[in-house]
Amino acid sequence: MTLIEQLGLMALKRVEPERAHRLAIRALKSGLMPARATVTSPRLRTEVAGLALPNPVGLAAGFDKNAECLRPLSQAGFGFVEVGAVTPRPQPGNPRPRMFRLPEDGAVINRFGFNNDGMATVAARLAARPERAIIGLNLGANKDSADRAEDFVTVLSHCGAHLDFATVNVSSPNTENLRDLQGAAALEALLQSVIEARDWLPRRIPVFLKIAPDLSDSELADIARVVIYRGIDGIIATNTTLSRRGLHGNHRAEKGGLSGAPLFARSTQILARLHQITDGAVPLIGVGGISNAEDAYAKIKAGASAVQLYTALAYRGLSLAGEIAQNLDTLLEQDGFATVAEAVGTGRKDWL
Ligand code: FNR
Repeated sequence: MTLIEQLGLMALKRVEPERAHRLAIRALKSGLMPARATVTSPRLRTEVAGLALPNPVGLAAGFDKNAECLRPLSQAGFGFVEVGAVTPRPQPGNPRPRMFRLPEDGAVINRFGFNNDGMATVAARLAARPERAIIGLNLGANKDSADRAEDFVTVLSHCGAHLDFATVNVSSPNTENLRDLQGAAALEALLQSVIEARDWLPRRIPVFLKIAPDLSDSELADIARVVIYRGIDGIIATNTTLSRRGLHGNHRAEKGGLSGAPLFARSTQILARLHQITDGAVPLIGVGGISNAEDAYAKIKAGASAVQLYTALAYRGLSLAGEIAQNLDTLLEQDGFATVAEAVGTGRKDWL
């Protein structure tokens, strides 16, 4: 962690979490974070659903909801960056406060509810994106939409030309009934129209599906079947959880989605189960509770071809991303893996 980051984090811890986040975004936009060289090596370089990643450690959706910091984030050490969620029309999200720190648990609870500037504003920012980065967009639906499934298509069609990948997010717990779209019949129809919209884009980009951790084995099996049938390029596992098991922080009873360390085990089990169900045929991106290189490596061995993180960055600063990537290289080397891909799924049985 840099000195500026240490001082910044110390100051931000005293500030209300959402305000602290806004300040962090503002600091990034104004160039306060020094750019670092791309973290990469022959071992870390990897391909996921046709995307050539310099390293497999990505930024999860929700940090830069409005694509305001594309350039600084693409120079922060991540192998890829996902921004959003973005909905067709701008919306304010839920009333504040709506983000809570649980430092004792290394966790956060949020109930933002897809607050964002809307696709027109975000598309304009994406159009001015840095060329060399790998940038994806998390697609969302407006709370008051008459046809939420159509919203995903609308945002993809509007922004798709500027993206390297898009993620269908039907797993946020903070938009009422959104998760119902994970059911087999609704999901099949939704994914069909999203893939059709993708096929109209000037360039074919991979489309991922992001799922919740609170799914049963049979629900997971249904999702995997639909993903394969509809030709989805990968699954991001997982979003935040509704579970509150084992928490100590004062805010543990707040409504919303829980992220960070307490989510690690459940989201990694989901990953391993998906890898088993799909027999490794569908690229998986592992998210949930990663705070060091060992966690990232565990997700890869459970079946992830790449990983993402968010909550640990709020406690440890953005330079954590590059640090994780670099240490991951060492861990892979120690175990005799020449590439990330070689390690994928090799520890799956530990999580089943
Ligand atoms: C999120 N997450 C999220 N996910 C998503 O698909 N769309 C979104 O808009 C958001 N927004 C969001 C806001 C905040 C404040 C948090 C903490 C999280 C979920 C995020 O991408 C990730 O899946 C989970 O947070 C689990 O990873 P971590 O945070 O434990 O590394």
